[in-house]
Amino acid sequence: MEIDYGPLTGLIGTWNGDKGLDVAPEPDGPAESPYYETIEFVAAGDVENFEEQRLAVVRYHQVVRRKSNDEVFHDQVGYWLWDAASQVVMQTITIPRAVSLVAGGSAEGTGPVVLRVRSAVDDPDWTISQSPMMRDHARTLAFEHEITLDGDRLRYAETTTLAIYDQEAFAHTDTNELTRA
Ligand code: HEM
Repeated sequence: MEIDYGPLTGLIGTWNGDKGLDVAPEPDGPAESPYYETIEFVAAGDVENFEEQRLAVVRYHQVVRRKSNDEVFHDQVGYWLWDAASQVVMQTITIPRAVSLVAGGSAEGTGPVVLRVRSAVDDPDWTISQSPMMRDHARTLAFEHEITLDGDRLRYAETTTLAIYDQEAFAHTDTNELTRA
């Protein structure tokens, strides 16, 4: 049977964008970095959980480079998952700082399609896991992500809330606009 990726269908493909802006924490205050990136989304089939939940799976890899020096300064892998029965959208994220999370949310519309997910350390359903170093010194408290998909155009805005340096809730933000290659 053909797999129905539902609202994730439009993600599948390779996307490039060069209008990225990152706001990240540094000891002396927020640092802004313009960036460009490639995100590859691959149809990865479906899975069955507990014999009753069926999820359609899109695997992705995001590689982000600073415009100032062309170096990769963020690399992220994960999955987008669609549970048609409950109409729930999920994103799992792993970043190479020893931080992972599972975010949950929903999809709205058909053209454009808006995907919204969130996760928080104290959320009983959609939570964050991190190493002791990160927990104690650069703690990810929450994550919110909105993607708007309109044919071959995609834009996103995400906020990662961090407890770092003397900041209780630093808004580490990333936005970009991409087009399908
Ligand atoms: C386009 C996406 C992103 C970019 C370009 C980015 C970039 C950065 C940069 C430049 C820093 C400052 C420290 C450094 O220079 O390495 C930073 C810190 C951090 N980021 Fe991100 N980030 C992104 C997304 C995320 C996401 C999704 C998470 C978590 C789910 C995350 C978690 C962190 C954490 C925990 C730190 C603090 C580490 C430290 O500075 O000691 N970031 N990020």
